[in-house]
Amino acid sequence: MDAMACMLGRQSTPAGMLVEPAPSDEEVLKLLETAMRAPDHGALQPWRFLTIRGQRRRDLGDIFASALAVREPGTVPDELEKARGKATRAPLVLAVWTEIVEDHPKVPAIEQVVATAAAVQNLLNALHARGYDAILVTGAPCYDENVKAPLGLAPKDALVGFIHIGTAKTAGPVKKRPDPAEFLQTW
Ligand SMILES: Cc1cc2nc3c(=O)[nH]c(=O)nc-3n(C[C@H](O)[C@H](O)[C@H](O)COP(=O)(O)O)c2cc1C
Repeated sequence: MDAMACMLGRQSTPAGMLVEPAPSDEEVLKLLETAMRAPDHGALQPWRFLTIRGQRRRDLGDIFASALAVREPGTVPDELEKARGKATRAPLVLAVWTEIVEDHPKVPAIEQVVATAAAVQNLLNALHARGYDAILVTGAPCYDENVKAPLGLAPKDALVGFIHIGTAKTAGPVKKRPDPAEFLQTW
């Protein structure tokens, strides 16, 4: 696929619309080669990825639910179940985080997160190029130590999001995009 056509054709698919097939572990590794081409100040390679499939998605759902119960004591069982279900909507979930190098003399933490975000965008485009669909999702779990710790993150690290990956059950409507002229000025 032509690179411009690929980038102009990519759009997110709601996680609940994602079904098999999802890329295999081998394909994920191949796709991640594009993430390794993200701009990266200081060549810190701060991005980290964790594949979560099958039963492990249920384990992630349990983590979401128990973290919510601590964050908001008194959450009703229906809401806990909803939180649990957020992890099992798509066949593959990729947790993405930035392993922050603290007090770097030249690369503040925000730049390390920016590099990870660029890696995510490369990956989203690569997934689209290979015929897969995806969405990046964040929310309160990303900022919750009771979610970060069991996934292996230190408190200093930034959980950038969860990329839900699969194949869209049905193609969603093509989104209208803003006119770039509205965002560009000449100085
Ligand atoms: C940092 C970040 C966090 C996001 N978190 C969520 C989220 O929690 N839930 C959600 O439905 N969409 C979330 N999105 C938005 C979608 O991933 C998607 O980009 C957005 O709906 C625009 O659609 P598009 O990708 O088709 O342009 C997030 C996007 C970014 C960049």
